[in-house]
Amino acid sequence: MSRTPDQQGTLKLPPQVRAAALAALGGTSFRGEFAWMSWAGTVWRLIGESGAVYVKRAASLADERDRTAWLAGRWPVPEVIGYFKAYGDDWLLTREVSGVPLYDVSIGWEPPQVARRFAEILLQIHSTDATGCPFGEAKPGRVLIHGDYCLPNVLVEQGRLTALVDLGRSGIGDPRDDFAAALWSLHYNYGPGYARDFLDAYGVPSMTDRDIERMRKRYGRPYTGKTVSTTRQQYQAATDR
Ligand SMILES: Nc1ncnc2c1ncn2[C@@H]1O[C@H](COP(=O)(O)OP(=O)(O)OP(=O)(O)O)[C@@H](O)[C@H]1O
Ligand SMILES: [Mg+2]
Repeated sequence: MSRTPDQQGTLKLPPQVRAAALAALGGTSFRGEFAWMSWAGTVWRLIGESGAVYVKRAASLADERDRTAWLAGRWPVPEVIGYFKAYGDDWLLTREVSGVPLYDVSIGWEPPQVARRFAEILLQIHSTDATGCPFGEAKPGRVLIHGDYCLPNVLVEQGRLTALVDLGRSGIGDPRDDFAAALWSLHYNYGPGYARDFLDAYGVPSMTDRDIERMRKRYGRPYTGKTVSTTRQQYQAATDR
């Protein structure tokens, strides 16, 4: 996440978004207000009397809203408290969940332990009953996938899963899409060498180094669909600027 200063005035919250966040938190003003540019748009953390709310601004967030709502009660996910259209974009409000992203140094783990827990959490989410899921098409070998299974989208407390965020591409899909994102994310954060910790902990049958590298590079080109704008492409675009 880069916290580049906003030069276009895009850090202005629409009145209806501000009002909805205040209503959710109680009170008449925020105690704290932080905003930063994310890869896909802008994210705010608004702090009030009874907790905090995240606001995400991006071109299209209806998929994320619908999937997050459907996943509630199946996976630990943030509560959606509002969705608006303003200033030519979508605005999604979720209540803050506890935890830190799995890459956070405060966890105090070495990369192999992070990689193993990353896999254990994925096993758990892939074994969720996907019956009746309206997103994606059920086919043999498919499971309920996250769709952008990167370290920043997995929140933990003392290493235990507290929430999954950024769910706009979740649904019934090919588990290899999540493996690809995970391998790419581990490599991005820690460099090469932790794919096997991850794959072994998940129980993926052994792969050659070449196959592992090929799978990592599939991130952004899912096995199940057309090219999507994943965190990888967003990182790439940021680097190319
Ligand atoms: N409801 C929430 N509770 C706690 N943390 C949240 C919540 N929503 C978002 N976050 C935090 O904000 C970060 C950015 O949110 P999100 O992943 O949805 O946006 P994004 O546009 O994909 O940003 P990025 O590309 O930086 O991940 C998350 O990685 C997570 O740390
Ligand atoms: Mg994210």
